[in-house]
Amino acid sequence: MTRVAPTVPEPAGLALEGIAFSYGTTNAVLEGISLTVRTGELLSLLGPSGCGKTTLLRIIAGLERPSAGSVQVAGRVLSDVAAGVDVPPQRRGVAMVFQSWALFPHLDVAANVAFGIPKELRG
Ligand SMILES: Nc1ncnc2c1ncn2[C@@H]1O[C@H](COP(=O)(O)OP(=O)(O)O)[C@@H](O)[C@H]1O
Ligand SMILES: [Mg+2]
Repeated sequence: MTRVAPTVPEPAGLALEGIAFSYGTTNAVLEGISLTVRTGELLSLLGPSGCGKTTLLRIIAGLERPSAGSVQVAGRVLSDVAAGVDVPPQRRGVAMVFQSWALFPHLDVAANVAFGIPKELRG
């Protein structure tokens, strides 16, 4: 008899579920944003200026708190509004390279990306 190990699905590299966000009470920027990115997969967010790309990245990094939804990285819950989870940015193991005025010219792309992640959280 051959024993077959049950297959445990690998958690997504990044999983967003039902993310909503507003600046103040009137400017609803994101609603019902759900997506998954597999480990090793690259995803580009494309859209017109002001559609909410930067806001979504800031939510993943923990710099903004969504009003609904959850963020998971490699199966670890970083934000979950319903469950009251909100891991602070410095404990997320997530790096963000800002659009302007934030690159170190003496470092290459990988080193710029890795700069903000504590050594113990780097993959
Ligand atoms: N700090 C802020 N306060 C109020 N509104 C903001 C702020 N940052 C961005 N917004 C507004 O939120 C919307 C989405 O902005 P943003 O996420 O920067 O879009 P993108 O990165 O796709 O250009 C825009 O309407 C923008 O004007
Ligand atoms: Mg932007």
